[in-house]
Amino acid sequence: MVRIKWVLVVSFALAMAIGFSASPQKSLAQKQTTPYGLGAYRDNQCVVCHLSLTEPLRISAHFYEWLNSKHSEKAVGCEKCHGGNALAKDKEDAHKGVLRSSFPQSRLHLQNLPATCNSCHQETVTAFVQSKHFQALKDSGVGPSCTTCHHHMASAVIYWPPETSQLCAACHKAEGNPAARYAQAPAKAADVLLAFNRADEVIEWSQFLISEGHKRRMQLKAEEEELKKLSLILKDAKVKWHEFDLEGSRQHADQVFMEATNVKNRLVRKGL
Ligand code: HEC
Ligand code: HEC
Ligand code: HEC
Ligand code: HEC
Ligand code: HEC
Repeated sequence: MVRIKWVLVVSFALAMAIGFSASPQKSLAQKQTTPYGLGAYRDNQCVVCHLSLTEPLRISAHFYEWLNSKHSEKAVGCEKCHGGNALAKDKEDAHKGVLRSSFPQSRLHLQNLPATCNSCHQETVTAFVQSKHFQALKDSGVGPSCTTCHHHMASAVIYWPPETSQLCAACHKAEGNPAARYAQAPAKAADVLLAFNRADEVIEWSQFLISEGHKRRMQLKAEEEELKKLSLILKDAKVKWHEFDLEGSRQHADQVFMEATNVKNRLVRKGL
């Protein structure tokens, strides 16, 4: 009896171990076969060399964080943010111009991030530089910058409302911080994120119903067009959020939610 139990425990542990080790490997293999996967980085020496580094841990861990980000998927290599020469095989040559983010001259210093990210995220940065946050960041260095909310390599966007609220509270509920004048910002920000999530979900629901309708060869052009328009309004609201006009962002998200709900109800009435 005891032996059987141990066999079970051991085989369970083995299954877990295989399960855990198999999944990252699978995703690596999958990435290598996709057009934007590592195959696209064959000649990118930053990626080739950093892929082979296991030490120091701090450096290696950043590589894996990038690997799992939207950026690696979309062919945004290290040099696009860090600078340096991605064609150089020699470390010193490759690293020319690469400065740790703590250096004020680094492209990745908090105060310089908006300019660095601007090459690809112009609309978002344009919204951000109009905010009091950018002003505070520029004047005293105390405002939040892109990585305050998006992790180092934008491997994560904050989606979880309580997390957002805590993040804002670090300044907006801190005594003596000029941001404490806007003490209601954390609670309002959590509501905006809830409203974004709700709108995202109902759009996704409607898109699912439309794809079901297509399987049944139903004519759903009007609904499709309307959803496309609503998705764009929501995308725009997420860009505008970077101005930190929290009421405005909330209104747009709610408008999208209401209208997408109408579309969803219409689809349901059509038997979907
Ligand atoms: C031939 C290998 C090699 C190439 C090519 C290479 N690196 Fe590195 N990189 C390293 C090693 C090794 C380290 C660890 C620190 C050290 O030895 O300088 C490192 C460290 C770094 C760091 C951390 C610096 C710090 O001290 O915090 C960054 C950022 C970095 N590399 C970015 C890049 C970028 C961007 C490119 C391409 C433009 C690149 N690397 C190309 C080997 C390489
Ligand atoms: C989308 C922009 C972006 C890309 C692409 C990117 N990084 Fe980074 N990386 C950053 C930012 C911003 C920081 C600093 C902020 C932080 O660490 O919180 C950083 C920090 C680092 C650090 C820690 C040292 C430092 O400067 O603070 C290393 C090491 C690093 N990145 C390596 C890489 C490697 C290797 C690649 C490519 C495989 C890469 N990064 C791709 C934005 C990027
Ligand atoms: C060379 C172009 C390029 C640069 C530079 C760049 N990005 Fe991106 N970024 C992209 C692309 C492409 C996407 C994917 C967009 C999409 O799928 O709609 C993306 C996506 C994102 C996302 C969404 C991630 C998600 O999971 O949905 C965030 C957040 C982001 N970037 C932040 C940044 C920040 C912060 C910087 C500066 C440190 C930066 N980016 C620099 C091209 C870039
Ligand atoms: C105070 C927090 C915060 C700061 C600072 C911030 N962002 Fe964002 N960002 C967000 C939130 C929240 C979203 C919306 C996430 C969602 O629901 O999709 C977002 C979304 C994005 C997206 C994706 C938009 C989309 O289409 O889904 C990009 C790209 C982005 N931010 C880039 C940046 C850049 C570049 C900076 C710096 C100039 C920056 N962000 C600063 C919180 C922030
Ligand atoms: C690193 C500190 C810091 C963080 C984190 C931070 N803020 Fe701020 N915030 C400031 C500062 C500083 C000001 C400007 C205060 C002043 O007027 O002097 C400000 C101002 C604001 C304002 C007033 C803007 C205006 O134009 O009237 C809003 C709204 C705001 N923040 C929302 C947020 C939200 C939402 C978050 C979290 C997603 C957040 N902040 C996170 C520091 C921060």
